[in-house]
Amino acid sequence: MDTIILGIESSCDDTSAAIIKNGILLSNVTANQDVHEKFGGVVPELASRAHQVNIIPVVDLAIKNAGITSDEISAIAFTRGPGLMGSLLVGTSFAKGFALAKNIPLIEVNHLQGHLAALFLKEENEQHTDPKFPFLTLLVSGGNSQIIIVKDFFEQEIIGETIDDAAGEAFDKCAKVMGLGYPGGPVVDKLAKEGNPEKYKFSKPKIDGLNYSFSGLKTSFLYFVRDNSIDNPDFVKDNIKDLCASLQKTIIDILLNKLILASKQTGIIEIAIAGGVSANSGLRSSLTLEAEKRKWILHIPKFKYTTDNAAMIAITGYHKYFKKMFADQSITAESSLKL
Ligand code: KG4
Repeated sequence: MDTIILGIESSCDDTSAAIIKNGILLSNVTANQDVHEKFGGVVPELASRAHQVNIIPVVDLAIKNAGITSDEISAIAFTRGPGLMGSLLVGTSFAKGFALAKNIPLIEVNHLQGHLAALFLKEENEQHTDPKFPFLTLLVSGGNSQIIIVKDFFEQEIIGETIDDAAGEAFDKCAKVMGLGYPGGPVVDKLAKEGNPEKYKFSKPKIDGLNYSFSGLKTSFLYFVRDNSIDNPDFVKDNIKDLCASLQKTIIDILLNKLILASKQTGIIEIAIAGGVSANSGLRSSLTLEAEKRKWILHIPKFKYTTDNAAMIAITGYHKYFKKMFADQSITAESSLKL
């Protein structure tokens, strides 16, 4: 019998639904929310309202695109957390209602485990090599910067993490200083392609062990821009590409230095990246070069599965399904769920 999982993701500002059949991704539909752009960040109340509007059409389209009917679905998996409470509640309530109505199992998924599982997503007729456990993952997003030993789908050990801001926040906050839109990471990435990464030097943290820190970089970037703008009010405009390239290089250097150390300390050479910041083209190319130099076996998720998506929730749910890791109707959303 076929195993078909419907995945639901609504942790922040993207409403997404996906269908996995027998381990193969058949559809993944995401509705983005443009409503936050003019506020320079996600407005939680607006996000949850938009999820309410989007969730049914998004699920409907995911089912149609997969070429299945809702009666064929074996189980529904949803993001329980971490994320914005109002947003999580929409996906959680929908999943509970759907499971009840169809009398199928309900599966809760930790959003962060979902990001790690994105490395295992396969589409039809696609050549794909799954990472082998245990592997090291650099999980970098708007809320996380962690180095994780992934021992199994459901067993991870965090061996390094940020003590303040996440890498995505460093991109977004510095982008804001330059007057770029939100989220700033993709804009910085685009402008950096035409800039000189060696033009400006920004401070790098001196933190022992495998932990990260990005708040010092944000502050030094802010002061640098402010001081240079006194003599030339157009400093940012005149140097935007070089500023982006130099900032991006600094963030990548910080991330990779600790990842190299983690690989040396653990002896693990199977390396992966995950999370929104793993979409960064500079990080991807620097990591590829580093992997060649160090004979790492590298796993980089497809660009479209780096940011929030339901495909990663559905594949995690698929693996939980076989272990009968089901939730009951008393489950609630958990905004600060840990890995
Ligand atoms: O994983 P994600 O979609 O959401 C969570 O934080 O859970 O990550 C969003 C973060 C934002 O900070 C965004 O600026 C960053 O990922 N991001 C990027 C790029 N694309 C997204 N940062 C740098 N370069 C990119 N191309």
